[in-house]
Amino acid sequence: MDTPRTVTVSPDRLVAGGEAMGRLDDGRVVFVRGVLPGEEAEAVVRNDRKDFVRAELASPDDVTEASPQRVVPTCPHRVAGCGGCGWMHLDTRHQLEAKVEIVKESLRRVGKLDVEVVEQLVEAGASVEPYGYRTTIRLTGLPSKVGRGVGFREERSDEIVPIDHCQVAHENIARLIRNLTVAPGVELTLRTSEATGGVTARWTKPEDRRRRGEKRRTIDAKKGEQAVSGLHSSVHIGDRAFLTERVADVNLRVSAPSFFQSGVQAAELLVDAVERAAPELGRAKHALDAYGGIGLFAATVMRPARHVTLVESSRSACLDAEANLEGRSHTIVRSDMAKWALPEGSPPIDVIVADPARPGLAKPGVGALAATEAPVLVLVSCDPVSLARDTQLLAEHGYTAERVEVLDLFPQTHHVETVTRFVR
Ligand SMILES: C[S@@+](CC[C@H](N)C(=O)[O-])C[C@H]1O[C@@H](n2cnc3c(N)ncnc32)[C@H](O)[C@@H]1O
Repeated sequence: MDTPRTVTVSPDRLVAGGEAMGRLDDGRVVFVRGVLPGEEAEAVVRNDRKDFVRAELASPDDVTEASPQRVVPTCPHRVAGCGGCGWMHLDTRHQLEAKVEIVKESLRRVGKLDVEVVEQLVEAGASVEPYGYRTTIRLTGLPSKVGRGVGFREERSDEIVPIDHCQVAHENIARLIRNLTVAPGVELTLRTSEATGGVTARWTKPEDRRRRGEKRRTIDAKKGEQAVSGLHSSVHIGDRAFLTERVADVNLRVSAPSFFQSGVQAAELLVDAVERAAPELGRAKHALDAYGGIGLFAATVMRPARHVTLVESSRSACLDAEANLEGRSHTIVRSDMAKWALPEGSPPIDVIVADPARPGLAKPGVGALAATEAPVLVLVSCDPVSLARDTQLLAEHGYTAERVEVLDLFPQTHHVETVTRFVR
C-alpha cells in the first residue's frame, strides 16, 4: 500500500462542520480534521482538489505545536475513531466560544454581513453538561466479521467503531449498551426520559433504508424479527412506544419516531432562549410554532398566547403535539411548511417561532413564513450555514436580525444551536 501523502498544516480558525481551516504553502485552502487553530501538524491528505485540500490528523503525535486548548479525549472509543464526539480533543471550556466564532464566520462569509454588525449581533449563551446529556442515541449493529455488538460510525465514513459505553449518553441508556446484540447494519435508536426513567427502542434494517423512495421501516419485534436482543423487558419497543418527558414544568408526550432535543437540559435552555428572544409571546393573541414537532415551544413558552398554530410534517410528532396541547386553544396542521398558508379570515400572527431541521427554512420556508407578515420571527437553527442563508433570504422579505444567541446543546461535537430574533 502507498504511504499516504501528508501536508504541514497550521489552521487559524474552526469552520462550520467542525474542521479547522488554513492555507497551504501553495495558496490553496486546507480543511483539516483533528487539528485546532494555532496548532501546527502533519496531516494526511484525504482529498486533493485544484482549489482546496481536505486532510485529517492521523494521530495526536503528529501535532508538532499543540494549542493550550488541546486535551486528551477521555473516551477510548473516540481515540479509536468513533465519529460521535469529533471535538473531544478541544477542552470543553472552550467549545462554546469556538462555536460562537463559527457562527460569526458563517454570518460574515455566507450571510455577507459586515464584521461590525456580526460582532454586535452574536452573543454566547449557555451549554448543557459536557457528559451524559444525550437522551437519544442511534447505534448500528457491527458487521458480522466484527461481532454482534454495536458501534457508532466513524466521521465521514461508513465504518463502524465498536463501543461498549458512551460518555455523552444519559446513564439510563449508556448502561444498556453493554448487553446489546444487534444484527449487522441494523440501526437502533434508544431514548430515555429523565422524568420517568423509561426507555424506548426502535430499529431499522439496512435493506429498508436502501429501498428507493421508501421511508425507514421499523422492524416488528413481535413478528420474530430478531434484529436486536439484550433489551430489558421494561423497554418500550416500536413506533407506537412513547415516553413522558418534563420540560419547564410541563409534561410532554414523546413518541419513539418523533424528534426530541438532545436532552431535557437542552430543551430547557432553548425554551429560555426563545422566551428571551420574543418577550412578545407573553401577550401574543396568535403564535405560530413552525416545524413545531411535539409542541415543545407551543406547550411551554407559547403558553400565554391566546391561540397557537403548529405546523409539522411528521405524523407521529403531530399526534404527540395533539396530546401535549390538549386543553388549550390550538390548531395543528400536518403539512410541509413550504406548502402552508394562514387560512383566510384567521387572526393575524403576532410571533413565529421556527425550528427547522438542518437544511433550514430555505426559500420556500421563508416565503411561507414571510407571507404571514408576522412582526416578530424567532429562528431556532442547528446549522450556522443555513442560519446565514436564511438570514439573507429573510432580509429580502424585510426581516432584520436583531440578536443571535449561541447555545451548546451538543458538547464534544461541532454541532451548534442558535436562537435569532428577526423583526420587520
Ligand atoms: C429540529 S426539529 C424541531 C421540533 C420542535 N420545535 C422541538 O423543538 O422539539 C424540526 C421538526 O421539523 C419537522 N420538519 C422537517 N421538515 C419539515 C417541513 N418541510 N415542514 C414541516 N415540518 C418539517 C421535523 O419532523 C421535526 O419535528
